[in-house]
Amino acid sequence: MRRFIQAAVIVGFGLSLTSSAMAYLGTYTAGAGINGTVHDLGTAHDGINYTAIPADSHQRICIFCHAPHNTYKLSTANGGPPAGIGGGPTAPDAFDYLPLWNHELTANYASYTMYQNGPGAPQIGAKASQAILNGMTPGSTSLLCLSCHDGSVAVNSYGNSSQLSQSGTGATIGAQYQIGKDNYLGNHHPIGFDYDAVQAVDTEIRSADSANLGGAGLVREHLYGPGSTMMECGTCHAVHNKGNTGETLLWRSDINSQLCLTCHDKGTDPGTATP
Ligand code: HEC
Ligand code: HEC
Ligand code: HEC
Ligand code: HEC
Repeated sequence: MRRFIQAAVIVGFGLSLTSSAMAYLGTYTAGAGINGTVHDLGTAHDGINYTAIPADSHQRICIFCHAPHNTYKLSTANGGPPAGIGGGPTAPDAFDYLPLWNHELTANYASYTMYQNGPGAPQIGAKASQAILNGMTPGSTSLLCLSCHDGSVAVNSYGNSSQLSQSGTGATIGAQYQIGKDNYLGNHHPIGFDYDAVQAVDTEIRSADSANLGGAGLVREHLYGPGSTMMECGTCHAVHNKGNTGETLLWRSDINSQLCLTCHDKGTDPGTATP
């Protein structure tokens, strides 16, 4: 597979193009839909080019992440069919949320190092990290993001042999967009933890039922899993650029650090007006 990726890049684009140097140079309006954004991968535009190899004559956008048929199947542990039943590949147990998922899954799911703040950090009281004390595992929805963003799988590696049209393979994500490189999430905002469990102890975290992400509703509406308690990548980012008011696909703008102040009570009210 890896050998094929390199061969395809060299044959298709010549030696001058490095395989992971693409950067989005365009702009888009928060909440105005996926077209034209960084997640509009169907065409080459604004400095990015992750289009399908061979080309997708329909220049589809959703297909990089979702397909209507024969997408990844849940494992039997998650209620999926027994081995060999149904088309499409079976996902590992770690993936318990597969919304018709069509992009190749990262094999790194079991090996991420989660948020670390060091042995010098406070260990008890409000300033101690409850996320660390409680433990973190990236939830399935975050693993979907990481399947492109950790750079382990080519952006345009989607589809499978059970489908009508499938992609080839190509370049991995640009370095400045890599989150979780080498499976390391230790220096990224914590994800994959129970927000309520943290909030119950950390007196400077606002309740998910009152903290409001501007026009995007309560934090609760952006938590995942049974009981909607798990904080994941999608808690801060609107992958489809829909319903959000913030830049960088954020549910809420981080101008004046409004996003951070939504959850972190550091004495300033983030304000209720959307920017
Ligand atoms: C870059 C990847 C990506 C692209 C492109 C994408 N999605 Fe998604 N989609 C996701 C992820 C990740 C989730 C689950 C996590 C979440 O909702 O935050 C999701 C969830 C969904 C869901 C279920 C939850 C919900 O939001 O209703 C629907 C429906 C959906 N997508 C439709 C679409 C359609 C239609 C398109 C094309 C117009 C599209 N998506 C393009 C990544 C993508
Ligand atoms: C199919 C691959 C793919 C998936 C899946 C995916 N992304 Fe992306 N994402 C990209 C690419 C490609 C870029 C732009 C990279 C570039 O310009 O080279 C990007 C850019 C972004 C940006 C930068 C926005 C900006 O304006 O600079 C954010 C934020 C982001 N993604 C969040 C997410 C989140 C959160 C998820 C999961 C819910 C996700 N992505 C899933 C491919 C993906
Ligand atoms: C606590 C909120 C929060 C969470 C959780 C979060 N992000 Fe972000 N993310 C941000 C903010 C704020 C920015 C914009 C500031 C910046 O560029 O550093 C951003 C920027 C990005 C970018 C643009 C590149 C960059 O480094 O700025 C990508 C890609 C991205 N996030 C992906 C992810 C992925 C994948 C996850 C889950 C593993 C995730 N984010 C979880 C808040 C968050
Ligand atoms: C959706 C709510 C939410 C948003 C938005 C958010 N955070 Fe957090 N953040 C949390 C929670 C919950 C924790 C875990 C707290 C704990 O472990 O006690 C956390 C942890 C942290 C930590 C680690 C604290 C430690 O003890 O090591 C820092 C630093 C941090 N956030 C800063 C930020 C910044 C800066 C932003 C804005 C870019 C931001 N957060 C946005 C909810 C959020």
